[in-house]
Amino acid sequence: MCSIIGYSGNGIAAPIIVKGLKRMEYRGYDSVGVATESENQIEVKKGIGKVNEVNSKIQLDSLPGNIGIGHTRWATHGKVTELNAHPHPSNSGKIAIVHNGIIENFEELKKELENEGYNFKSETDSEIIANLIQKNYEITKDVKETIMKTVSKIKGHYAFVAMFENGQLAAARFHEPLIVGVGQENIFLSSDVLGFIEYTDNAIYIKSGNFIILENKEFQILDFEGKKVKHEITKVSKEFGDAYKGDYAHFTLKEIYEQPDVILRAGETTIEEIEKAVEYIKNAKNIYITGSGTSYNSALIAKQILSKYVKIKAEPIISSELQFTPEVIEENSIFIAISQSGESADVLEAVRIAKKLNCKIISIVNLLTSSLTRKGDVILGMNCGPEIGVAATKSFTAQLIVLYKIVQKLSENITINFEEFSESISKMIENPKKIQKIAKELKNVSDIYILGRGINYPIAIESALKLKELTYIHAEGIPGGELKHGPLALMDTDVFVIIINPNDSTYTDTLTSAREIKARGAKIIGVSDIESDVYDYWIEIPKINEILYPISEIIPIQLLAYYSAIEKDTDPDYPRNLAKSVTVK
Ligand code: G6P
Repeated sequence: MCSIIGYSGNGIAAPIIVKGLKRMEYRGYDSVGVATESENQIEVKKGIGKVNEVNSKIQLDSLPGNIGIGHTRWATHGKVTELNAHPHPSNSGKIAIVHNGIIENFEELKKELENEGYNFKSETDSEIIANLIQKNYEITKDVKETIMKTVSKIKGHYAFVAMFENGQLAAARFHEPLIVGVGQENIFLSSDVLGFIEYTDNAIYIKSGNFIILENKEFQILDFEGKKVKHEITKVSKEFGDAYKGDYAHFTLKEIYEQPDVILRAGETTIEEIEKAVEYIKNAKNIYITGSGTSYNSALIAKQILSKYVKIKAEPIISSELQFTPEVIEENSIFIAISQSGESADVLEAVRIAKKLNCKIISIVNLLTSSLTRKGDVILGMNCGPEIGVAATKSFTAQLIVLYKIVQKLSENITINFEEFSESISKMIENPKKIQKIAKELKNVSDIYILGRGINYPIAIESALKLKELTYIHAEGIPGGELKHGPLALMDTDVFVIIINPNDSTYTDTLTSAREIKARGAKIIGVSDIESDVYDYWIEIPKINEILYPISEIIPIQLLAYYSAIEKDTDPDYPRNLAKSVTVK
């Protein structure tokens, strides 16, 4: 998860590339770099940090020329250093590349190239691509032949863009995204449409196993055997243009505040698909639900609402675990895959395993152009707009709304008034003062525990995830009843405990747990629609249809995590060491 971009057009390449990288920074932000070609010379600038920081230090956008490549990195092979930052020039300096993904046989290739006299400056697997291309280009003197020879040698998952000293660009894709933006004056090669959406909404999704060669604005798309392949231009939704912070200080805050609107529109465009999904679910022998991170927490809630409201059993599976326990899946089952990005490698691998077992795949996904979309038998769009903040917020709500819509269709007894719910959420977050005050208290805390029972337990886990991601404070979700089986030993006056305690069947037991914790001196934050003297701080949630409690509980905690991040001076949009879409296993 890095972002790559290539540009060729009438404009000055460097500032256009820097803008594109800024928008794709969610894919990785350890380092950034740009290389351009001008008068048959390649010049590279790169540094550690985020796009704006590095650009203001070394002016990436001042590089000359109308052709260039750029990269933001999420470190996998090699530390976060300037030498490991992309673009990587080849030994001759006549070729430079940017790469996203992993080259599995890089050690073997590196040795081969070293024996032939090539030197390597970085610890990355990517630098071998630059030198392999140089070697093949010196032999063939032809870009097409060079790329074919190069991709036949490398193993792994990758997308790369190579720039040659004469201004030619070439890019290849193997299981990592590569999209061509086709403008009137410009051509882009990019990991995401966000890299070029400001300039064109015409996109070509390059298939895995294909490559593109580009000279000026003329391009050819070929398969790895060198045969020309037909391409289709897709109009990309202008909605991607929404990826601006507007008046908000951070994307994360904007995305939290978009949730009343998400409640109204999630799953809206997919009524027919929901009906199809319902038919599959009704007739299923076995149902499994998978996801990673936040999307897995949605799967945990899905299990509970399906069993409680429509008496359908479904088993949640952590996507990254399935490859080690494939025998838990029965053949010919229904496999629901939840993923905001639709690109998480763990989810795609889980789907591959399920497909091999002849399962039907229902995908709940936000990015409808993603790999997961192409693998689903039924596609349920989350429809929550681009989510840029690395920690998932509005996409979690959107996933739950889609699941509620499925449950509603499965049962005649459930009516959910989404308009009323959306209004109550708007009101709840209208004034965040109280939450900001609690965030100040959390600034110097080193451990936070979150307790919930039943359907509120997945919310406790999701809350812990948000607090970890945004504040770097150790946080742990605990099923309320398990407190006495161990975690109670951790409670003392330094600890803060969040009690998820709506007025449902878990209320009384959870209030008792809160009292037990309070007796050990810990501070209690109650998230509830009922006030209690046991809470040192009360976060009030609306009195609503109890199926909706999970959403009304998580939103104030997302805000609490956000404001605590502000207090701690961490960057809520781009938490350290993380990336939004984890496209490696
Ligand atoms: C990454 C993100 C998480 C996200 C998870 C799953 O780890 O940092 O916020 O929940 O991936 O992402 P997906 O796109 O599959 O929902």
